[in-house]
Amino acid sequence: MTGQKMRIQVAIIGAGPAGLILGHLLHLHGIEAIVLEARSRDYVEQRVRAGVLEQCTVDLLREAGVGERMAREGLVHGGIELGFNHKRFRIDMLELTGKAVTVYGQNEVMKDLIKARLAAGAAIEFEVEKVSIDKLDSEQPLVRYEKDGVSHEITCDYIAGCDGFHGICRPSVPQGALTTYEKIYPFGWLGILADAAPSQEELVYMNHDRGFALFSMRSPEVTRLYLQCDPEEEINQWPDERIWTELLTRLESQDGWKPNIGQITQKSVTSMRSFVTEPMQFGRLFLAGDAVHIVPPTGAKGMNLAVSDVQVLAAALTEAYRTGSSDRLAAYSDICLRRIWKVQRFSWWLTSMMHRFPDASPFDHRRQIAELDYLTTSRAAAMTLAENYVGLPLDMAI
Ligand code: PHB
Repeated sequence: MTGQKMRIQVAIIGAGPAGLILGHLLHLHGIEAIVLEARSRDYVEQRVRAGVLEQCTVDLLREAGVGERMAREGLVHGGIELGFNHKRFRIDMLELTGKAVTVYGQNEVMKDLIKARLAAGAAIEFEVEKVSIDKLDSEQPLVRYEKDGVSHEITCDYIAGCDGFHGICRPSVPQGALTTYEKIYPFGWLGILADAAPSQEELVYMNHDRGFALFSMRSPEVTRLYLQCDPEEEINQWPDERIWTELLTRLESQDGWKPNIGQITQKSVTSMRSFVTEPMQFGRLFLAGDAVHIVPPTGAKGMNLAVSDVQVLAAALTEAYRTGSSDRLAAYSDICLRRIWKVQRFSWWLTSMMHRFPDASPFDHRRQIAELDYLTTSRAAAMTLAENYVGLPLDMAI
């Protein structure tokens, strides 16, 4: 086994949204990076995740030159619907905030970014093994990995830990240097993709006695649906017919609206947690995306948060290389966490309002319904939902 050594400015661990967008932004600023990914290209491009992009995420992708297909195929939504007591109410986000969201699958964003990176001749290694990081608090941190049986060692200026919740970067920080804040929810989401035309243009978040349900979509031909289930739910307990019966029971509303039924092409169960690790930096390791924070999927903030992290990180690294000042890099964690905690609060709040908690009392249920009634009848209340849903501004001030 021969050892390969290389030197690069930034080593990015993980080719998810955080890693790939960071790599792309750095490339645009003339900073050289390598992206390492344990999975295959196919896996990354097919992995089904949420699909709602905040206006600022859309703007960033467009400005970075990777928004062309998204502009063509993405579905721009100016509103969402909230449902309770078998009725649906529209929140007109565009009218309230002047902003919209775009429905475009996360894996489609991945395909566009990988294509752009390869077209630019920038380095990306899939299916790497035994990745480890070392010397994080020195000026020259190290990354080691194996690929096709050959060991590699990279010396770099900075490491970006973008390898997700189960990645190796966060656990590589010495014990005691990070603090974790966590909340686990007593339910999960069973999600499906179906070959069925969406039966209406906008998303429906439904609070139902049997639990939450969500009507979403991926394209004019594909509907995406979710229902609240047990966090340990066995997917093989859910034949297609049972899924449709449950979805129709929860989503069908008084005016007769319901989703169209079609062939189910994908189904899976996701557990739900809120999770933040602070700070997002140790020495020359900067953590971004799911490696440092997880939100429950209600509100679809996960990828959007990853994007704002790396927007800050790319600006801070660019400043460090251009001016020699690492002030913004030193402030990276504080800048990101201000926004992350607000988005955590929103995701927790929307989750709490829409789901049935196993220990909820009749009082809790009445309070949930009153909150939904308030949200759908008060402009002030609707505004707080809308401005969070379309995406809070990113304040990069130190
Ligand atoms: C999705 O389409 O996957 C989706 C949409 C909205 C959410 C979560 C997931 O809040």
